[in-house]
Amino acid sequence: MALNKKLDRDFIANLFSLQGMTAIITGGAGRLGVQYVTALKKAGANVVSFDVVINNALGKNIQQEKVDITKKDDVFRATDIVEQKYGSVDILINNAAFNPKVGKDADSTGSECWLPHEDYPQSLWLKEFDIGLNGAMYCTQASARHMIRQNSGIILNIASTSAITAPDHRKYEKGKFKSAAYPVVKTALLGLTRSWAAYFASTAPNVRVNSVCLGAVNFGSMEPEFLAKLGQRNMLGRPAKPDEYNGLILFLCSDASSFITGSIVTADGGQTVW
Ligand SMILES: NC(=O)c1ccc[n+]([C@@H]2O[C@H](COP(=O)([O-])OP(=O)(O)OC[C@H]3O[C@@H](n4cnc5c(N)ncnc54)[C@H](O)[C@@H]3O)[C@@H](O)[C@H]2O)c1
Repeated sequence: MALNKKLDRDFIANLFSLQGMTAIITGGAGRLGVQYVTALKKAGANVVSFDVVINNALGKNIQQEKVDITKKDDVFRATDIVEQKYGSVDILINNAAFNPKVGKDADSTGSECWLPHEDYPQSLWLKEFDIGLNGAMYCTQASARHMIRQNSGIILNIASTSAITAPDHRKYEKGKFKSAAYPVVKTALLGLTRSWAAYFASTAPNVRVNSVCLGAVNFGSMEPEFLAKLGQRNMLGRPAKPDEYNGLILFLCSDASSFITGSIVTADGGQTVW
């Protein structure tokens, strides 16, 4: 039987609308960051990227600020400037991380990232914590001051399947190992999520904090053999496409998820169910 119902576009648009909201996205110049800043902009938000680099491929309607999130004072200063310009800080996505690259992108993060655990350089270990965990804490602190005053806000921490399962090193070239810091940082982000969600329950109950555990993404630079290995790991038989998390991100940043806080949402093609 054909459906005779008119699609209520207003209902759907209102549920997911970010009109008038201001969002800070760390690592907004990166591969997935670009997706998120674009999606949130399309949903009506004022979007500001905090990144150590500027991405010239992003349109002029995306504000890009050079902010090193490991520098707490800089983060506080930049966040206050955003609040003064737009009048509120409504959304923070802690997305920046040091994520060692594979395939044709591998050189951008260096071969040291793949050393055996016992040889892993202290400098990289500390760097991963500084960007992925400390940076997320400083950005959350800076935004929280405004969100508590507003008694509204949404914080989203970008974790990974590595936060709930161990990396399977067998998928990498022989002798290469995913850094131990990566899963440790991502697991810690789940703790950060729960800590802040509970804290806001006592200080500003309309501020919600969630995290997402995302599976690997194919940006088009992976070797076919590696792609096939990633496909074997999940139920959909392939890694995610770069734009496939946009719906989840928009959902968790909008009123559509208004009763969700302290949660860990997994989007991994079923990988961690197996
Ligand atoms: N790519 C994947 O397959 C995948 C899978 C699961 C989860 N994730 C997570 O998604 C997020 C984004 O991943 P990506 O693949 O887009 O990574 P990416 O490396 O392309 O982007 C990370 C961005 O963070 C920025 N950055 C690094 N240090 C910074 C600092 N000190 N201050 C501010 N910005 C800084 C980088 O300049 C870069 O633009 C990460 O948290 C990553 O762990 C990625």
